[in-house]
Amino acid sequence: MTHVGVRRATPDDVDAIVELYVAVVEEGRWLGGQLPVDRAARRDRFLAEIDASDKNASLVAAVDDEVVGHAGVDLTPYDVAGLGMMVDARWRGRGVGGDLVRAAIDAARQLGAHKLALQVWPHNEVARRLYLRHGFVEEGVLRRHYPRRNGELWDSVIMGLVLDETSPGSSL
Ligand SMILES: CC(C)(COP(=O)(O)OP(=O)(O)OC[C@H]1O[C@@H](n2cnc3c(N)ncnc32)[C@H](O)[C@@H]1OP(=O)(O)O)[C@@H](O)C(=O)NCCC(=O)NCCS
Repeated sequence: MTHVGVRRATPDDVDAIVELYVAVVEEGRWLGGQLPVDRAARRDRFLAEIDASDKNASLVAAVDDEVVGHAGVDLTPYDVAGLGMMVDARWRGRGVGGDLVRAAIDAARQLGAHKLALQVWPHNEVARRLYLRHGFVEEGVLRRHYPRRNGELWDSVIMGLVLDETSPGSSL
């Protein structure tokens, strides 16, 4: 049986991560990024995420030496971590996304985040279900928020997973 493992990305993974990103952007329905992709700029961003380990976690799902998924966790200055992830279309629906989300939650805790947050397109039902299954809640919708290159204005669903439920919350 094929074994998919999740591990920290290394600089040797960066070209595969960029190619995965380009392939998912080319699908045109799932990510914020749009064509054309500036591969060099994107490569630099993924590399910085791999290097800056006290503020970021870059995780890959790999089968043998092949990268089939990626999750990036980026800590903001106010200690909310942002999550972005993608799985190779040929590997979806087999639990790779779930493995990556669990690893991303662990990584966010290790970075000291009190919350993990993301945005997802309303039509991305697989991703929304995946996040809900892992404890995220839908916190709101940004209406007609993101301009797309085809002239459309897309809504975006904000989702969050609170990691620190014990610190005091807001008081009036
Ligand atoms: C969203 C995404 C990351 C999910 O990854 P994935 O590997 O397909 O996720 P999983 O396999 O863990 O779960 C997806 C579905 O497969 C099902 N599944 C998981 N393991 C399974 C298995 N062994 N056999 C059958 N089905 C399985 C899950 O129950 C889930 O079903 P559901 O959608 O009906 O609830 C992936 O679809 C993707 O990369 N999409 C494009 C990029 C994207 O949308 N990124 C997120 C932007 S916010």
